[in-house]
Amino acid sequence: MADATPLDDLKQLETQALTHLQQCADEIELRAWNTQYFGDKGLMKSAMSNLGKIPKDQKPAYGAELNRIKAAVTVAYDAALAEAKEKSLQISLTTNPLDVTLPGRTQIRGRLHPATQILQQVYAIFADLGFQVYRTREVETDELNFELLNMPAHHPARDMWDTFFTTTGAVLRTHTSPGQIHVMREAAGKPIRVILPGMCYRNEAISTRSEIQFYQVEGLVVGEGVTMADLKGVITAFARRMFGPERQVRIRSSYFPFTEPSIEVDIDWPKDDPNRDRLTKGTGWLEILGAGMVHPNVLRAGGYDPEKVTGFAFGMGPQRMLMLKHAIDDIRLFWQNDLRFLKQF
Ligand code: PHE
Repeated sequence: MADATPLDDLKQLETQALTHLQQCADEIELRAWNTQYFGDKGLMKSAMSNLGKIPKDQKPAYGAELNRIKAAVTVAYDAALAEAKEKSLQISLTTNPLDVTLPGRTQIRGRLHPATQILQQVYAIFADLGFQVYRTREVETDELNFELLNMPAHHPARDMWDTFFTTTGAVLRTHTSPGQIHVMREAAGKPIRVILPGMCYRNEAISTRSEIQFYQVEGLVVGEGVTMADLKGVITAFARRMFGPERQVRIRSSYFPFTEPSIEVDIDWPKDDPNRDRLTKGTGWLEILGAGMVHPNVLRAGGYDPEKVTGFAFGMGPQRMLMLKHAIDDIRLFWQNDLRFLKQF
């Protein structure tokens, strides 16, 4: 019998490749097969490099045959691979059925507390109006919280703030107004336009409208020729942006020891809210801030000359603003950490 010719070798390679292919049980084995035959060091490659050793007159026939085999084997491989994939899909569908009617898994995402969100809105509005944010301490002395704000010891107006005193005589600030003194002393005679946000504390009965701890945002503007009209302008511009143009703003005269004259500002409670009467004590209005022209004694305590400069100040309750925006009927919801409430913001 004559020796096997190069063409016979190719024929045998084809048979071997196809037989092997049929023995592959799954996709992994098929991929291994592919590497064995078509990889960089694969058998098809070496058949290709054999071409150089083939006698010249047999080369065209060898080349043509090799190409035919490569094509045929590739078609067989692609078909086998598609079949294996389909088979494994069927297996996973039957052994591990997927119930597409089950509810999805909810992604739990964190969010900012509504009190923080409203504070950030307040900052953004005042930033537009040219105010800087200034932070001061929550634990104050009696001097800062009262005396320098024109309330000497035994001043009856101190009763407006039920105060938490510590055993060492410090007080938890009852309002952000002591910050006015801190700012003026630091600005040392220069013009001032700041807001002072922060937590305040009052030893009060907790109710739907009052908590023992709550946020305030103080505002202070000091400079030459600052007037009540400027105060009114800033407050109404703020209220328009915070509540929209359709909500009403009401300014009433009031009394604070550290401002003269003094005012309070109310916003009308949403008209369609059934709790309106209860939450506004039948008035339809909720107070959001106290304000006024800085008292000369307070300017002096801050190191400013009331003959040369004037100023206005306000102290607002951002949580009440959120209540007004969304008709929230109980300020206590803010610190109860009830997710059903918090998740709505
Ligand atoms: N500090 C006052 C309060 O807490 C509010 C206020 C601030 C009034 C600034 C006038 C000026 O009730």
